[in-house]
Amino acid sequence: MIFSASKSNLVLIGFRGTGKTTVSTKLAQNLDLNRLSTDDMAVERCGMSIAAYVEQHGWAAFRHIEHECVAEAASRQGVVIDCGGGVVENPENMRLLSQNGIIIWVHAELNDVLKRLAEDPLDAQRPLLTQNTTKQQDIIENYSRRLPLYERFAAFMVNTSTHSPDECCRYIQSDIFGKM
Ligand code: S3P
Repeated sequence: MIFSASKSNLVLIGFRGTGKTTVSTKLAQNLDLNRLSTDDMAVERCGMSIAAYVEQHGWAAFRHIEHECVAEAASRQGVVIDCGGGVVENPENMRLLSQNGIIIWVHAELNDVLKRLAEDPLDAQRPLLTQNTTKQQDIIENYSRRLPLYERFAAFMVNTSTHSPDECCRYIQSDIFGKM
């Protein structure tokens, strides 16, 4: 676990459907901090939904835009940053985010991720990461491939399969933010 008292941002990473948006929104409210979402920033830059942008320009072009959003978010002070699930694909994203941010991995068990994504009406906005596969297979493959990346880059982890969003926030507020 890496910890530095000189960092001022809380950075949430984790797979799709783990609850990053819920936890980061509550956290920002509780701590009276601004919340930035790299997905929202990317949608604004793309001028369309992520799904439409990836469909037209491909994943590499989206990752480029996402990197610009990450760089902008990482340059801010005292904010909660809700990162798209794929930011860990680029080590440079993580270098920038960790310069002034404590990286927190929002984790959930695969079965919960599959269930939550199946029930999420906004999931159509998330394009498949791998071609020629089913949605379920896409999630299963990328979930296992990504886990070691989230684990490598995070200093702390909260588990939304075993703890409610409020419990995760309480832990982050007292054991992480309270000691920054
Ligand atoms: C992605 C996750 C999405 C979004 C994009 C790519 C990924 O964000 O950035 O569809 O690579 O896993 P969420 O994790 O917020 O759904």
